[in-house]
Amino acid sequence: MSGPAQNRRVLSGMRPTGQLHLGNYHGALKNWIELQYQYECYFFIADWHALTTGYEDTSTLEEYVWTMAIDWLAAGLNPGVATLFIQSKVPEHAELHLLLSMITPLGWLERVPSFKDQQAQLTDRDLSTYGFLGYPLLQSADILLYRSQYVPVGEDQVAHVEIAREVARRFNHIYGREPEFEQKVEKAIKSLGSRNSAMYRNLRKEFQEKGHADALAKARALVESNARLTVADRDRLFGFLEGAGIAILPEPEALLTSTPKVPGLDGRKMSKSYGNTIGLREDPDSIVKKLKAMQTDPARVRRTDPGDPDKCPVWDLHKVYSNADTQAWVQRGCRSAGIGCLECKAPLIEKIVEEVGAITKRAVEFEENPELVRGIIGEGCERARQGAQQLAEGGANRRDEHRGEVRVVPASRELAAELFVLLALSGNGRVVGRAANRHDHSA
Ligand code: TRP
Ligand code: SF4
Repeated sequence: MSGPAQNRRVLSGMRPTGQLHLGNYHGALKNWIELQYQYECYFFIADWHALTTGYEDTSTLEEYVWTMAIDWLAAGLNPGVATLFIQSKVPEHAELHLLLSMITPLGWLERVPSFKDQQAQLTDRDLSTYGFLGYPLLQSADILLYRSQYVPVGEDQVAHVEIAREVARRFNHIYGREPEFEQKVEKAIKSLGSRNSAMYRNLRKEFQEKGHADALAKARALVESNARLTVADRDRLFGFLEGAGIAILPEPEALLTSTPKVPGLDGRKMSKSYGNTIGLREDPDSIVKKLKAMQTDPARVRRTDPGDPDKCPVWDLHKVYSNADTQAWVQRGCRSAGIGCLECKAPLIEKIVEEVGAITKRAVEFEENPELVRGIIGEGCERARQGAQQLAEGGANRRDEHRGEVRVVPASRELAAELFVLLALSGNGRVVGRAANRHDHSA
């Protein structure tokens, strides 16, 4: 389900586990840097997530948070357009996590592949903890708190976004029902005027029967552009498009990007845990040394042996860094033994040293000015927090409008609590006052 006030918001996070490397840069950051100019973006440093596996030694966490902030800024995340913040500075994440935990079946979390995989892999620590099990739920709270539509992540995180979708669906199922929904929807459709209501019905049918996403988008736009609808009716029409209730929490989508694979120095995926990385701010000498020693096609023992770029991780780097001419030169030279491996690496070394050099230079400016970084991130935290609270109030106000009820809870508290308390209370009211209705609906 997808809902209103969902201005194509993008959200993603990273755990602060030390200085970023080129794999993080090409695999995620660069994509974020593009997205920030196309969407309303929220990017945050997931320090609580870092604790789920790194709870024993927390001594580096604070430092790593600021390292990450500087990496982001130096790489080109722009605090003027994107909201950059720290998860733990927006306590609503924890609040919503707690509240979502009430409706999340254990089995959903136990079945997430990364739960068992990581437990098996990270044998040096005890991950049979409550916090680690709840990792994907905390991530769901991160996402749902801002009613995010898109979540740019790598393959390994898709299962977590899927949990967020399921939790949202369950939440909407439990709390998004209202008495006489169908009748109210009918009235709302009629109020669109005869042409538009016919169009709405057709588009809904097209989406429901054939799954056409553009029909859904058109129908949403139709609803969105109708200025005469009340907020409550708009929500109903949005909710009816995809289901039979109001989507309080819109279902997010993973945004998978076709980023080129960045190989590590040993040919495996570049990853901190493999110790095969080039840091985003590594010094040039070290980069040159590492790249010169980088694994090549093992069949090229001597300079005169022809090689096969497809069996060489250096070629994967050329795919990331080199233009078509250079790539053709590599292909020819390698297969004919016309060039040596060091020669082949030379243009890469130059490109990477330049790229890392530019980022390092910007990073130094931020490092020398920690107050500036704190100010930028502090402002981001503030903005994120306001965002979360506004969305909460939007949610709460919508509930009020739906129910025509006076607010029971003072308008001060943050999203999760407010939303939930209101929902729970109005839900209670419904159970007491309109029990029959509720049963009609769930039957
Ligand atoms: N789990 C993500 C990772 O390890 C980080 C993360 C935490 C995240 N919360 C998120 C990503 C919310 C996207 C959305 O990469
Ligand atoms: Fe790899 Fe280049 Fe050597 Fe070929 S010439 S094996 S592509 S490093």
